[in-house]
Amino acid sequence: MKCRKCQNKASIHMRQHKLALCKEHYLEWIPEQTEKFIKKYQMFTHEENILVAVSGGKDSLSLWDILVRLGYKADGVYLGLGIDEDINYSHESQRLCEKFAAEKNLKLHVVDIEKEYGQSIPMLAQSSHRGYGKPCAVCGLAKRHEMNRVARDLGYDVLATGHNLDDEAAVLFGNTLSWASEFLLRQGPVLPEKNGLARKVKPLCRFYEREMTAYALLSGIEYIYEECPFAEGSKSIFYKETLNQLETVRPGAKLIFYLGFLEARKSGELFIEKNVEAGVLHDCPKCGQPTSTPDFCSFCRMIEKANVEA
Ligand code: AMP
Ligand code: FES
Ligand code: ZN
Ligand code: ZN
Repeated sequence: MKCRKCQNKASIHMRQHKLALCKEHYLEWIPEQTEKFIKKYQMFTHEENILVAVSGGKDSLSLWDILVRLGYKADGVYLGLGIDEDINYSHESQRLCEKFAAEKNLKLHVVDIEKEYGQSIPMLAQSSHRGYGKPCAVCGLAKRHEMNRVARDLGYDVLATGHNLDDEAAVLFGNTLSWASEFLLRQGPVLPEKNGLARKVKPLCRFYEREMTAYALLSGIEYIYEECPFAEGSKSIFYKETLNQLETVRPGAKLIFYLGFLEARKSGELFIEKNVEAGVLHDCPKCGQPTSTPDFCSFCRMIEKANVEA
């Protein structure tokens, strides 16, 4: 198979786009496409300050790399979750984020949840098992809270995450199976700033996971291969596998599923907005972030409960 642009040997063939490219042209194509998505969905401008949430994985480190190559002002934030039980997952992912930042002379903020609040994610999950369930739920809550806090306190205009098409299609699939209209209406490449919550964007949401792996490998980014140990057996992994089976038989199915959803939502044909008027929000008296729960927000309540039990 030959590269469409230069006729040299292709390094990657994307069946769904009927496109094969060599290494050099692939490393140009991904940032060009990303720039198109940033503009199409009006994510941010070259004047704005971007905070990229980096986990040490291929997607978020590639995202940081691409934004810097495109000339955007992008700093990083790494959240230390304290997941170092069977494998040194957090330790290793932090090392890789720091290495990436140092090599490229970029600014990385590091927040250690345990140092900040006295509780790591596994500790929080244990002490709140009745209220919050699996570590992933606790972790999701803590990540959302902390990313927003850092973006807001340090005055960033926008928070960018590395979610790819496989992530987004799996979430969409799950929400569609249960017709979770509240979540369906909020899912998309951009979540505008609202009530003290930073604007959130997902510039990689139209790239297949495989395309991001190829980008990271071809550009020599060192990233953590392991998944979070708690993700094993999760619903989202099962949904991803199911969609991969579909994709094998119908190349492009994932992209059509996701883009079709965005179109349907935009046209307003399928969804009734009035169902999802958000409840009244107030500022959490402890951390100041907006919340719909009475008194303290869910994050602050979780921390307080865990510290009382400890
Ligand atoms: P996940 O929820 O693990 O699929 O990650 C989705 C996105 O959230 C990643 O692409 C990152 O942008 C961000 N993220 C996940 N974990 C962390 C972390 N520990 N620190 C900072 N950002 C993270
Ligand atoms: Fe948070 Fe796995 S990354 S529980
Ligand atoms: Zn080429
Ligand atoms: Zn709070």
